[in-house]
Amino acid sequence: MEYPSAVRQPIKFLIVLVAGLGLLTWGAFLVMQETTRGWVERDLTLRARLAANGAAPALATGFRAGKPAELRTALLNLVRDERILGVSACAPEGRLVATAGTTPAGFGCDRLKSFVVPPGLALGVPSREWMHVASVPGGTAHLSALPIEDEGGLAGFVILVHDMAFAERREAQGRNLLLVAFFLLSLCAALVTIVAVRLSWRGWTRQLQRVLKGGAQSDEFRPLLRDVRELVDDIMTERDADGDSGAWTAERLKHTLKRNLHGEKIVVVSNREPYIHDRAPDGSLRVLHPASGLVTALEPVMRACSGVWIAHGSGTADREVVDKHDRVLVPPDEKIYSIRRVWLTEEEEKGYYYGFSNEGLWPLCHVAHTRPLFRTTDWNHYQAVNRKFADAVCAEAEIEDPIVLIQDYHLALAPRLIRDQLPRATVIGFWHIPWPNAERFGICPWREELLDGMLGASMLGFHTQAHCNNFLDSVDRYLESRIDRERQAVVQQGRSTLVRPYPISLEWPVRWLADLPPAAECRRSVLAELELPEGTLLGVGVDRLDYTKGIEERLLAVERLLELRPEFLGKFVFVQLAAPSRTAIDRYRDLNASVEAIARKINLRFGDGSYQPIILKASHHEPPVVFRYYRAADVCYVSSLDDGMNLVAKEFVAARDDERGVLVLSQFTGAARELTEALIVNPYDLDESAGALGAALTMPLDEQRTRLRSMRAFVAEFNIYRWGGRMLRDAARLRRRDRLTGRLSDRFAAHFPGAEA
Ligand code: G6P
Repeated sequence: MEYPSAVRQPIKFLIVLVAGLGLLTWGAFLVMQETTRGWVERDLTLRARLAANGAAPALATGFRAGKPAELRTALLNLVRDERILGVSACAPEGRLVATAGTTPAGFGCDRLKSFVVPPGLALGVPSREWMHVASVPGGTAHLSALPIEDEGGLAGFVILVHDMAFAERREAQGRNLLLVAFFLLSLCAALVTIVAVRLSWRGWTRQLQRVLKGGAQSDEFRPLLRDVRELVDDIMTERDADGDSGAWTAERLKHTLKRNLHGEKIVVVSNREPYIHDRAPDGSLRVLHPASGLVTALEPVMRACSGVWIAHGSGTADREVVDKHDRVLVPPDEKIYSIRRVWLTEEEEKGYYYGFSNEGLWPLCHVAHTRPLFRTTDWNHYQAVNRKFADAVCAEAEIEDPIVLIQDYHLALAPRLIRDQLPRATVIGFWHIPWPNAERFGICPWREELLDGMLGASMLGFHTQAHCNNFLDSVDRYLESRIDRERQAVVQQGRSTLVRPYPISLEWPVRWLADLPPAAECRRSVLAELELPEGTLLGVGVDRLDYTKGIEERLLAVERLLELRPEFLGKFVFVQLAAPSRTAIDRYRDLNASVEAIARKINLRFGDGSYQPIILKASHHEPPVVFRYYRAADVCYVSSLDDGMNLVAKEFVAARDDERGVLVLSQFTGAARELTEALIVNPYDLDESAGALGAALTMPLDEQRTRLRSMRAFVAEFNIYRWGGRMLRDAARLRRRDRLTGRLSDRFAAHFPGAEA
C-alpha cells in the first residue's frame, strides 16, 4: 500500500527514533549486567571470607588434630546458609579431608591442584584466597578458596561454593524492567514528536499564510517569499496582454517592455555591429550581415524593442552613412532602431580587439588548446576602449537610470565604468562564450580587474548554469566579496549582482526563411550550383573559420566515414561554408591553411576528376545563402570543441520546415543540452563522429521527422523573444527594488542629514 508523503515522513522518523532508542537500551542493559555481575561477585567473595573467618578456629583445630569428623561439624555449620551449595575442607596439598552440602563436580579440592600457579604462589596450590565463577548444571556457581592459618602456618583450605541463581534472577528482572521502560519511552517519544510536529506545522503554516498575505515580516520566510514572488512574476510574464499564455513573439516582447519597463529606451552595447556598411570591389555601397551569434540573437530583440545599439564601426563605408552624432538608422529599409558607431584607431583595434579580446580572453574561455596571450599594451588598449564605449553609453542615456545591455567579452570593464557615471542605471551583462573554471580563469594577469569590471552590472547572464557556477567560483577565489549562493548573487559593499543562466536562441520564425523556396527547390538549386548530380547525399557545416569550431576534426570525421563505409564514396559530399574571421591573428591564418590542407588531402585520397568529397567555401555568405544550404542538406554537422551555445545548430533546425535532415551536434556546445534529439557526439572521437554521420545519412525519414519535430518545437517555444522577455522582466524587478531602496535611502538622508543609510 502506498502512503501519502505527509504520513510517510513521520513514519520514517519514528522508525529511526525507535531503532535508536532500542540500540541505546540494549547498550544500557549490557553495561548494567556487567556492573551488577561485578558487584555480586565481590559480595559473594566478602560473604565467603566472613563465613570462613567465623569458622576458622574450629577448622584450624580440626586440621591440626587431623580429625575429619570435627572438620565436618564446622563445615555443616557453614552450609546452613541456603545460598551455599557445598563446602570442602582440603589439606594444603589439595587432598579432600571433609565435605558438607552438595559441591558441584570440579568445584572441590581437585580444583586446588589444577590451579594455574601465578607467580608468588606456593607450589601446586595457592597460598592466598582466590575465587572463580563457572557454569554448573542448572546455572552458575561462585567458588571461594580461603586458606586456614594455624600458628605454624598454612593448615589447609576451605572451599565455599555459592549458588548464583539469585543473581541471574535479578538480571532477568532488570532486563524485563528495561524492556518495559524502553517500550514506554518509545511510546512517549513518538507521541511527543507527533504532537510537536503537528503544533509547529500549524504554527509555521499560519505564519507563512500571514507572510504571504503581507501581514507579517520574518527573516526566516524572506527567501521563500522571494521565490514565490518570482514564480508569480514568471507566470505573469508567461501570459500575454489578454491573459493568454501564448507563444513568445516580437509583439509580445514589445508588450512586456511596455508593461514592465514603461517602454523605456534600451541601449545595447557590443563590439560587433549588426549591419556593416561596406564598399564592394566595384565601388558600390553594400550592407553586410556579419557572421556572429551575438548579432543573430540580438538583432530581432532590437527590432522589437527599438532603442540604440552602440558598436564598433568596422565597415569600410561606415563613416559615410552616419549622421553628425555617428548614428545610422537600421535595418536599412525599415529604420526601426539606430546604430551608434564608436570609432577605433588601428592601434586600438589591434590591442583591444585582436590582442586582448581575441588572443587573450577568447582562448582563455574556450577549452580548445590554444594558449592565451596577454600583453600589457593590449590590456591598456582594452581599458581605454572599454572607457570609450562606456562614455558613448552615458552620452546616449537620456535618463539617469537607463537599461543597458552589455554584450560579451570585449566589454568586461564597461559595466563598472558605466555604473561609476550612472549609479542608478540597470546594467545587464551577457557573456556569449563559455566561462572557464576558476583555475583556468586565474591564468589572466588582470583577473581581479575583469571580475570587478563585470560586477558593476546589476545582472550577469551566461548560457548555462555551469558557466554561472564557474563565474561564481572565480569571484569566490579572486575577489573580496560575499557569494549569496541561494540567490545566485555576488554582494560587494552592499550592492549585489545577480548571476543567472539565460540560454540564447533565435527569432521564431526566422525572417530569412520567409522569402526562401521550399526545401526540395533549395536542394535542387544548391546541387546545381555545386555541379553535383541529383541524389547526392549532402552534408553541411557553417562556421566562422575559428579553431573553437572543430572544423579540422569535422573534415577528419568525414574522411573516417569514407574509410569505414566505402559505399558512400562518390555519393556523399560535405560542404563547409567558412567565413574568414580575425585573419590578422596568426592562429587564425594557420587554421585557414590547415583546414585547406586537410580538405585537399581528403579530396586527393578519395576524389577523382568528377568527385570531390569535400567542398570548402572559405568566404563570407549572407544569411539567405546559408539558409538555402541548411535546407538542401541531408545532415548538418556542428563539431565545436567548446561553444557557449552555438546558434548554427538552432538555425539548421529552424530551416527544416520539411522535417527532414539530421543534426549531428558536439556535446561541447550549450545547444547540446537543449537539442537532445540531435545525434550528440564527442568531436574528438573520429570513429564515433563518423558513425553518427553514417547513421544520419541512413536514418529513416520517420525518425528524422520525429527528431526534428521535437527540436523545432523546442526552438519555437524557447526563442529569442522569450530570452529577451525573461531578461527584461528580471531587469524590471531589479529596477523596482533599486528604486524602492533609492527612495528609502533618500528619505533616510532627508531625515538624518550627514548620516549614512
Ligand atoms: C562569437 C562572439 C561574438 C562575436 C562572434 C563573431 O559569437 O561571442 O561576440 O561577435 O563570435 O566574432 P567577431 O570577432 O567577428 O565579432
